[in-house]
Amino acid sequence: MNPQPLSQMTYDGANALRVGQIETIHGPVPKIFDEFWTAKQRQMHSLHYALSYRASFKPELPDFFIRKFSQPNDLVGDPFSGRGTTVLQAALLGRRGVGNDVNPLSERITNPKIHPVNVESLEKRLEKIALDQPRDLSREEDMSMFYHPDTYKEILNLRDYLDTHHDPIDRFIEMIAISRLHGHSPGFFSAYSFPQISIPKSNQIKINHTRGVEPDYREVKSRILKKAKNSLKDGRLDEILSCGKKSILTTGDSRQLTDWPDESVNLVVTSPPFLNQVDYILDTWIETWFCRIDSAEMGKKIVQTPDLEEWTQFISDTLNELHRKLVPGGHVAMEVGDIRYQGEILNLDETVVNLTTMKRYNLGQFKVREVYVQSQEFTKLSNCFRVKNNVLGTNSNRIVLMEKI
Ligand SMILES: C[S@@+](CC[C@H](N)C(=O)[O-])C[C@H]1O[C@@H](n2cnc3c(N)ncnc32)[C@H](O)[C@@H]1O
Repeated sequence: MNPQPLSQMTYDGANALRVGQIETIHGPVPKIFDEFWTAKQRQMHSLHYALSYRASFKPELPDFFIRKFSQPNDLVGDPFSGRGTTVLQAALLGRRGVGNDVNPLSERITNPKIHPVNVESLEKRLEKIALDQPRDLSREEDMSMFYHPDTYKEILNLRDYLDTHHDPIDRFIEMIAISRLHGHSPGFFSAYSFPQISIPKSNQIKINHTRGVEPDYREVKSRILKKAKNSLKDGRLDEILSCGKKSILTTGDSRQLTDWPDESVNLVVTSPPFLNQVDYILDTWIETWFCRIDSAEMGKKIVQTPDLEEWTQFISDTLNELHRKLVPGGHVAMEVGDIRYQGEILNLDETVVNLTTMKRYNLGQFKVREVYVQSQEFTKLSNCFRVKNNVLGTNSNRIVLMEKI
């Protein structure tokens, strides 16, 4: 399917492109280019930054759409919830969240953020957990390239403890522990590694070799406590909890949101996987290992396809399901990117707009109101992976705003 070309462009000021439009059978759809939210890092509630997640959006994105297109107590959903950015921001704005992701890790890291606990209770709980019991590491998965043996022993003991302890304090500890599994500063449990991606063991061996280091001992409890304090520092815990209690988190396929109530969701703010940009199974393997998640099972459902037709059908089926879940007049803000496809730049927003106009896809379900293009200077991956602009990764946030007909 070829995206339709932008039919008209207007220019503002020093040749900066500001407004275009996409022709559809419902008439022209405005495409607005602007800096809708700040490009500065870490401006929102500290809980959003409790942990990194591959291809997550900035909390400013759901914040913008939730404020504009929903009311307090409304139900705000995300079928590709990831680290739960939409659901947490919904709670911070007095809305009820409904999140879903095919990866069970999503629920494990989102639930504690919308059921936050205070630092004192966390500190007391940590004191009680025994992490220094002896372990026979030869019977365990070899993680020696990431962790010092004594650190690894503490991680394994914590994992065993968390198998049988699930109250909100334990679950918060688990979420923070997940955030500390690998990264580039002394605050992480691992030797110098990548924070957003679980890299393969062989790559970690190379990093250690290049840096001429072996993993040093990183005491686990103090690192959890420090990160937890940091994540909770912006407070408002009672407010978050009161909305969190009314929120719903499900694990499954976006095309079958069986546990989401029908005709109940006022707004969806979401970002699907973009063709084959990210491998969500491989890139979270340390987290899924820690949480004992069966990644083979997840692999059967996750959609990571390099094929545009298949991706288009997947998005269309998801929109079809969302149409069932939305209240009449409800909105979907779907963020997609510009990607390199078969040697050309493909703006996936135009692919999504076209879905709403084609009989074999979603004709008659949605009216596209606007497309927002958030201008930004750097690719989302650039800081960590030294990605050059316009070469790899995705360079802009493109959000298609649709209204249920
Ligand atoms: C771009 S990320 C979303 C990140 C999220 N917006 C955040 O801020 O963390 C896409 C998510 O889609 C999930 N996913 C992939 N295939 C799926 C499917 N068939 N159903 C539901 N979720 C799926 C992945 O596990 C991943 O978490």
